[in-house]
Amino acid sequence: MESALTARDKVGVQDFVLLDAYTSESAFLDNLRKRFSENLIYTYIGTLLVSVNPYQELGIYTVSQMGLYQGVNFFELPPHLYAIADNAYRMMCSQLTNHFILISGESGAGKTEASKKILQYFAVTCPMTESLQIARDRLLLSNPVLEAFGNAKTLRNDNSSRFGKYMDIQFDYKGIPVGGHIISYLIEKSRVVYQNQGERNFHIFYQLLEGGEEKLLAYLGLERDPQLYKYLSQGHCAKESSINDKNDWKTVSSAFSVIDFTEDDLKNLFEILASVLHLGNICFEENHQGCATIPDTHEIKWIAKLLGVHPPTLLEALTHRKIEAKTEEVICPLTLELSVYARDAMAKAVYGRTFTWLVNKINSSLVNKDLTKKTVIGLLDIYGFEVFDKNGFEQFCINYCNEKLQQLLIERTLKAEQAEYEMEGIEWEPIQYFNNKIICDLVEETHKGIISILDEECIRPGPATDLSFLEKLEEKVGKHAHFQTRKLAGPKGRKRIGWMEFRLFHYAGEVTYCTKGFLEKNNDLLYRHLKEVLCRSKNCILKECFLAAELENRRRPPTVGTQFKNSLSSLLEILISKEPSYIRCIKPNERKEPSKFDDLLIRHQIKYLGLMEHLRVRRAGFAYRRKYEHFLQRYKSLCPDTWPHWHGPPAEGVARLIQYIGYTPEEYKLGRTKIFIRFPRTLFATEDAFEFSKHQLVARIQATYRACLERRAYVRKRHAAIRLEAHWRGALARKLAKRRKWAVRTVRKFIKGFIDRNKPLCPDNEEFIVLVRKNYILNLRYHVPKNVLDKSWLRPPGILENVSDLLRKMCTRNLVRKYCRGITAERKALMQQKAVTSELFRGKKAGYAEALNQPFANSRIDEGEINPKVLQLISHEKIQYGIPVIKYDRKGFRARQRQLLLTQKAAYVVELAKIKQKIVYSTLKGVSTSSLSDGILVIHVSPEDSKQKGDAVLQCEHVFEAVTKLVMLAKRGNIVNVVQGSLQFYISPGKEGTIVFDTGPEEQIYKDKNGQLTVLGLARRGPRGEDMALSAAVALSQGVGRHGILLTAPVAACAPDEESAQKVGGCPGGYAFWERGERL
Ligand SMILES: Nc1ncnc2c1ncn2[C@@H]1O[C@H](COP(=O)(O)OP(=O)(O)O)[C@@H](O)[C@H]1O
Ligand SMILES: [Mg+2]
Repeated sequence: MESALTARDKVGVQDFVLLDAYTSESAFLDNLRKRFSENLIYTYIGTLLVSVNPYQELGIYTVSQMGLYQGVNFFELPPHLYAIADNAYRMMCSQLTNHFILISGESGAGKTEASKKILQYFAVTCPMTESLQIARDRLLLSNPVLEAFGNAKTLRNDNSSRFGKYMDIQFDYKGIPVGGHIISYLIEKSRVVYQNQGERNFHIFYQLLEGGEEKLLAYLGLERDPQLYKYLSQGHCAKESSINDKNDWKTVSSAFSVIDFTEDDLKNLFEILASVLHLGNICFEENHQGCATIPDTHEIKWIAKLLGVHPPTLLEALTHRKIEAKTEEVICPLTLELSVYARDAMAKAVYGRTFTWLVNKINSSLVNKDLTKKTVIGLLDIYGFEVFDKNGFEQFCINYCNEKLQQLLIERTLKAEQAEYEMEGIEWEPIQYFNNKIICDLVEETHKGIISILDEECIRPGPATDLSFLEKLEEKVGKHAHFQTRKLAGPKGRKRIGWMEFRLFHYAGEVTYCTKGFLEKNNDLLYRHLKEVLCRSKNCILKECFLAAELENRRRPPTVGTQFKNSLSSLLEILISKEPSYIRCIKPNERKEPSKFDDLLIRHQIKYLGLMEHLRVRRAGFAYRRKYEHFLQRYKSLCPDTWPHWHGPPAEGVARLIQYIGYTPEEYKLGRTKIFIRFPRTLFATEDAFEFSKHQLVARIQATYRACLERRAYVRKRHAAIRLEAHWRGALARKLAKRRKWAVRTVRKFIKGFIDRNKPLCPDNEEFIVLVRKNYILNLRYHVPKNVLDKSWLRPPGILENVSDLLRKMCTRNLVRKYCRGITAERKALMQQKAVTSELFRGKKAGYAEALNQPFANSRIDEGEINPKVLQLISHEKIQYGIPVIKYDRKGFRARQRQLLLTQKAAYVVELAKIKQKIVYSTLKGVSTSSLSDGILVIHVSPEDSKQKGDAVLQCEHVFEAVTKLVMLAKRGNIVNVVQGSLQFYISPGKEGTIVFDTGPEEQIYKDKNGQLTVLGLARRGPRGEDMALSAAVALSQGVGRHGILLTAPVAACAPDEESAQKVGGCPGGYAFWERGERL
């Protein structure tokens, strides 16, 4: 409840006790309206639940909702039916006491729904064993059967219960529902024969016609159309869209099988229902004597067949009456009116008693044969106070019943209040309330009460009428303060009371009753003649309902009023022994509309349900009371002494707390176990303070909790980090150790391998060798020579020397091949020439090395420089090469400028336009040069050749080139002679000259004193200053320079000394040629 206080501004108060203006009906109504508009249909008055019918599904009856309320303290959750049910159940279980829940309210206010929901709550939430499931199912399924026979559509409610119902649910010591018992009150039998416009007979008739099988209907002599039956069609609404009779028939049929109905039972039951319908269709006619007759006996036959009676007897019983004289029976005919009455009386009696039989039958199926003691929770679904425009005998009974129940409620509430005060040691403060015992007495007192007067009037010999009954009332209870008639009322009240009416001032308000029909209804007379017929019926149910003993008993059966009074007093006896809970149902509007709140209608109900009275009683003393523990638990945060924990007794804690908050003495009282707070405002103020402090507390608790969570998370993270670190370090260390171990092993293996590297391949050195091999090969990748001149080569380890050699050769070969492939034909020719030159001169003639650099030209003379005449002369031969030369006369050694032209066939010495000398290659005897660096060449011709004057002594700048071209054109490589010192040449046939070669400070050619041609060349020095001419001479004498190692020759020639020259004589040295010689 307290928790709800926080939201009270929004949706009123959850408990009317907390209304400040608790005496104001408007405040009450406002609160109800406020809550209803928010679909909050339940509100407490203390422990009484006020329920407003929502006329819509609110989703508040789910299993999860049931779970929510299960075992929870009554005030902890918002008001609900389930809280009432659960509270009763828990009290019953813990204290082993019996309880009842009284549900009252107008028709259509939701009583039956409430009782069903409570039953469902128990069915779902109570513990259950398999064997006891049947009992639970029967309890649940008894409802549809009872509703089919006892409920009907009325203007106010499509499923209006037309009887009062008290249902006991029996629980064993474990709290399992094991059985039940139902008591019905005052079934509205008149409905069987008459319905108002817009209303229907009991559901079962329509269900039977709508859902019954063809075979069954044929057997019962019924048609499917309800319009054909008078008893079903008077209200003109046999078919109603909100009611599904077919489905309901199925539900009821299956329920019959669960609650132990045999085939015979059902057959008999349906026979009775059918016979009632046939009864309604009997048509009477009046004969000329004014007596009723039944011209068409069709219906009679059916009834007789269905009920197992003799048709003529039945016919007679419906149209005649047996009057018992002292010794004999006289049968006299009935008037039409009386026959109709007799027929209707029979229908009502048959249906009424069958209903009672049905209830008994259900009870026998619900009975629990186990004799151990059981606790019970009773559900009383009974009509509330009824005030219509016209109130009859039924309303009188109903309102009397409500007076009795109100009396019970007030007594119990007051008693409970008093008991509580006593228990708590609080002084009892008398409560002003209206004790309605006086009204109850007015109705029920023997001899003096209204019921007694009515009974008297019923049995009185002579003409007793409703009016005579009213007069009797005026006479006997006319002075009663709560009774009034038109006659007794003053001139003011007179207008509002009819001549046939009397008014009772009930606790809930005044109600005017019309006495019309009181006697008849109270008598509920069934003619003896008909009774006899029914007693002889072969229908088993009727046999049970109409016992022959009844006929023998000559005493009048108790009247309806007395029967009701008696059953009410036995009901009260039942209730008094039990702990009560109350549910008051309110109907928000007459139109069954959701969300419509009809103020006037509700105000009326608040009044007649006695809610204001109840609230007044409940609030007379203290508005609020709560156990110290609970109070302290909730509000302890408001006082520093009690927050966060109070270690002393709770009572002291509460005392300290309220002292701190500042309660004044008249605001509260401290009992033994509870604190009592007189005014709601005190509680509200406390609640507001709590609400305020709650925020601070929440913030603090949140902060602390968050800090705690954070700390916990931090510590967890830290631990995790440390562990991770440790693991990681461990893992790293292990890895390192493994690596080290591996390294040691590897190093050891390496060393061992190194030591044994030269041993034959064995496991000890295998890996090392593989490694060395691999490393060498891999390294070699980056060190292979890039071109043919690159002499570098990676030094191989000992074991790979052979391999290295092979590789080097392969590499060289490969480079050479590559190089060779890249050489053009022209270049090749040039190189061939150089090769020839090398063969001819390498190591033989000084200046060779220097000449190597100079590439050979195709010709040293352009064609334009040759005299055209000459060209013409040798036009048949193509000039292959030309070079300017100095020709020395063979005799005087005079130097003359000439051109040496070489063709395919011959060499020509040309002076301008003249061919001075033609030497055909075939006649060529040789070519001589000196070993020095002069440019002298001598072309030897054959002395026998008469055409020749003699050898040609020539000097040219490019002696190596010229000689090579000549030799190659002449295709005679062996004709070159490199001479040393001097050479002989042929001047003219038979005459020889000599050319002397020497070195000097400068180059000189002259004719010496001996008439010889002396040629002085420059002495050439090698890098170490040695005489190159000499070296060449040495080399020449040793015959170094073979054709096969052509390329090495120039290097050898350039080698500084002999040793070097020899050293480079191998293949690698060959590349030096390209270094020193021409750059290719
Ligand atoms: N708690 C509820 N929630 C939704 N509808 C309800 C509720 N109570 C009653 N009703 C509606 O009101 C109708 C009448 O209720 P009922 O219990 O038969 O009234 P009473 O027994 O008081 O005459 C029901 O048929 C149902 O439609
Ligand atoms: Mg009902």
